Amino acid sequence: MEIREIVSKNRSYRRFYNEKKITKEELVELVDIARLTPSAANRQPVKYMVVADEERNAKVYETLGWAGYLKDWDGPEKEERPTGYILILTKKDVKADIDEGIISQTIMMAAVEKGMGGCILGNIKREKLMENLKIDEEYKVDLVLAIGYPKEEVKIVDIKDNDIKYYNDENKIHYVPKRKLEEVLM
Ligand SMILES: Cc1cc2nc3c(=O)[nH]c(=O)nc-3n(C[C@H](O)[C@H](O)[C@H](O)COP(=O)(O)O)c2cc1C
Repeated sequence: MEIREIVSKNRSYRRFYNEKKITKEELVELVDIARLTPSAANRQPVKYMVVADEERNAKVYETLGWAGYLKDWDGPEKEERPTGYILILTKKDVKADIDEGIISQTIMMAAVEKGMGGCILGNIKREKLMENLKIDEEYKVDLVLAIGYPKEEVKIVDIKDNDIKYYNDENKIHYVPKRKLEEVLM
């Protein structure tokens, strides 16, 4: 796949096949790719925690907030939940948003290349997640990357009337409005 195809296919997927599960080794391979990304002043402050077992998956899932614009949807049903997660962490006094953005997109693109997909989540009950996974108090969880084999069709559409809200149709197809090239090019 060329980069344009990977980036186009790399949508936020929120429903997954549970018949085909992600393994811990597959997630570690994604982290091994992520550690090669650029980092401001080459500080590389980001740590990763991979989760791919049923018990801990449930402990991560209960702390996540899904698709805020879909008011009548609370997140994936039990049998459509992500089968793995990569937690993006830094020490409490560190801010590394840009590094983490690059890392997250790189992981997601690598996942897409391998036939997987997922969603970056910033809406996290962080204290609860720290407690659930017994994470060292020295660290904080900045982002959670939910990963699996996507069961969802996601289509990009042009933005109309400046409405940025994504939506689903009656067949559960998910639509993501993107600004047109003419609009973003200054
Ligand atoms: C930093 C960041 C945080 C996000 N947090 C959440 C989240 O907490 N919950 C969620 O369902 N989606 C989250 N998303 C996914 C966005 O909603 C999604 O990227 C956006 O709707 C565009 O869809 P696309 O990724 O398919 O292009 C997040 C995305 C980014 C980049």
